[in-house]
Amino acid sequence: MSLYKKNFLKMLDLSKEDILEYLKTAAFLKEKKHKGEAHDVLRGKNIALIFEKTSTRTRCSFEVAAADLGMHPVYLDPKSSQIGKKESIADTAKVLGRMFDAIEYRGYGQEIVEALATYSGVPTYNGLTNESHPTQILADLLTIQEKFGTVEGKTLAYYGDARYNMGNSLMVGAVKMGMNFTACCPQKYFPDASLIEKCREIAKETGSVLTFTEDPNEGSKNADVVYTDVWVSMGEPAEVWETRIRDLSPYKVTAAVMKNAKPNAVFMHCLPAFHDLETEVSKEIYEKFGLTDMEVTDEVFLGKQSVVFDEAENRMHTIKAVMYATLLPPQK
Ligand code: CP
Ligand code: NVA
Repeated sequence: MSLYKKNFLKMLDLSKEDILEYLKTAAFLKEKKHKGEAHDVLRGKNIALIFEKTSTRTRCSFEVAAADLGMHPVYLDPKSSQIGKKESIADTAKVLGRMFDAIEYRGYGQEIVEALATYSGVPTYNGLTNESHPTQILADLLTIQEKFGTVEGKTLAYYGDARYNMGNSLMVGAVKMGMNFTACCPQKYFPDASLIEKCREIAKETGSVLTFTEDPNEGSKNADVVYTDVWVSMGEPAEVWETRIRDLSPYKVTAAVMKNAKPNAVFMHCLPAFHDLETEVSKEIYEKFGLTDMEVTDEVFLGKQSVVFDEAENRMHTIKAVMYATLLPPQK
């Protein structure tokens, strides 16, 4: 099996073997990085990094990983490029495909990153769309594997808006790997029925158990991992805050939610997180709605069970693994 020249667009495209290969490569590259051993095996390769939405972790991961691999990254944002305004995605992809060895895209619809892959002809990576965030899932799986020795058979409980990129991708990633997945939120925030159906089919093969519950006291029972994400995602209108706060406040990850989980359970969050009043947005929300935290309490976020910063570090090692595996020709 070779991942060479493959795209990395969504978890549904990957087999369990592909995911294990990425995780093995990430662990190998992480060790090299920690030992200070050079691994600039992709010298001379260039990657275009398109960011239509903001980013700290994903952008830094691609840039640092590219530099470590000896590559040259070029950052493009919508303000300083023609993308979308004066030039279509198809034309942009054809141009970038002539200059770059790979393309990363963060932005809106999944169809945009799929079109970039189709028209560019070079490996294309999804750095987050509304529907999916597959590079985040690799980092999450690596983190779970590091904490528990394996991902198979572990149970992940997701609290919050399970219809968006993180809920969707975690559900697919879990069932592909034989992990159990629970979505804990009001029914209208459950993932799309057709995606659930696809996951049920995959789960028949891998033995995963899928659970959907509206009861916040039930969701984390027997969980090894309690996971949450922001209640309002990038690109969503500010008007949705009020409804989200009303709907999702009962699903905040608190000490009680963690207590219901297994004693050695970990808390995970893709970040950025609203757990205190140290950000512009959380201050605005405090002024408007009086909340001092949102999807997770400060106590849990900073507590002993939280592995959020290990998870953030693993973004870099796993993104590096994706570029390494898809751009380095198989060694004879
Ligand atoms: N988790 C994540 O994708 O973070 P950024 O938005 O900072 O890239
Ligand atoms: N659901 C969040 C994830 C951020 C990494 C968003 O799309 O903004």
